Amino acid sequence: MSESVFEPRIVAFLCNWCTYTGADLAGTSRLQYPPNVRIIRLMCSGAVDVSYVLKPLLEGADGVLIGGCHPGDCHYQEGNYKARRRIAILEESLKGMGLDERRVRLRWISASEGALFAETIRRFTDDLRQLGPNPVRTLWTM
Ligand code: FES
Repeated sequence: MSESVFEPRIVAFLCNWCTYTGADLAGTSRLQYPPNVRIIRLMCSGAVDVSYVLKPLLEGADGVLIGGCHPGDCHYQEGNYKARRRIAILEESLKGMGLDERRVRLRWISASEGALFAETIRRFTDDLRQLGPNPVRTLWTM
């Protein structure tokens, strides 16, 4: 009987103009990265409401990635700055809920940074493997 290996499930909210295009470039460049991520495309990282991040975590996702344009490059001027502020506040709330704030990651990845996108997914997946399953999941089996 084989022991099942933990594979983290990651939900990624990616800005259409930068990180989503970077992810697309990683794909068209045939860069390898773990298949643990499910991508949701939004027009801007500033559109990522705190509830968008909490919902997958409370439903058992092991990590949430938010990807946006580099500071100064947001197509809607300040969306990525709003995202940064929201995630900083959210990290404090996660601690209060007993969730490790390392389960949420905000990264700036441009359309030309396909390699950075692939590396970000590799690292996040490895870090989540170290952290182990989202503790919310174990509540379901009780
Ligand atoms: Fe990319 Fe705003 S358009 S972060």
